[in-house]
Amino acid sequence: MFDAGRRDFLGLAAIGSALAALGTALAGVLRLPKPAVLPGPMRVYKLGDPAQFAVGSVVKMDAEQLYLFRDERGFHAISSVCTHLGCIVAHSEREGFACPCHGSKFDTQGKVTGGPAPTGLAWLEVSLSPDGQLQVNGETEVSRGTRFQVG
Ligand code: FES
Repeated sequence: MFDAGRRDFLGLAAIGSALAALGTALAGVLRLPKPAVLPGPMRVYKLGDPAQFAVGSVVKMDAEQLYLFRDERGFHAISSVCTHLGCIVAHSEREGFACPCHGSKFDTQGKVTGGPAPTGLAWLEVSLSPDGQLQVNGETEVSRGTRFQVG
C-alpha cells in the first residue's frame, strides 16, 4: 500500500519534470526567431554650420560621445568611448586622452599608449549633409589622420 502511493508520487513527479522540461524547450524555441541583439538607431549626428567651429577648436560632444576637432587641414572626429570597457575618455591638448576608469591612455591621435585598452580610439567619418550641416557618422570608422575639408 505504501509502495503504490510512492509509485504514484514518483510517476506524477516524472510527468511534472517532463512537462517543465518541455515548457522550457518550447520557450527557447519561441525565442529563436528573434535576434538576441537588436540593431540600434543609426548614429549619424548633424552638428550644424561648419563655420561655427573655429580653426584650432576642440569640442567635446557628450550626447554624441565624440570629440570634434578642426585644424588647418580640416575636421576630424574621434570617439570618446574607451575601447576597454566603454567609459568616456577625457581630452587634454598636450597629453591626448585618458580614461578615468582603469587608466588607459591614448596619444593626441587616439593611439593607445598605456593601460588595458586593446585598441586606439576610433576616428569617425565626418562629412557634409545635403542641407549643408557638418555631420559625423558614428557607425563608420575612417583611418587615423583622415581630415574632412569643407568646400
Ligand atoms: S574603460 Fe577605459 S580603461 Fe577601462
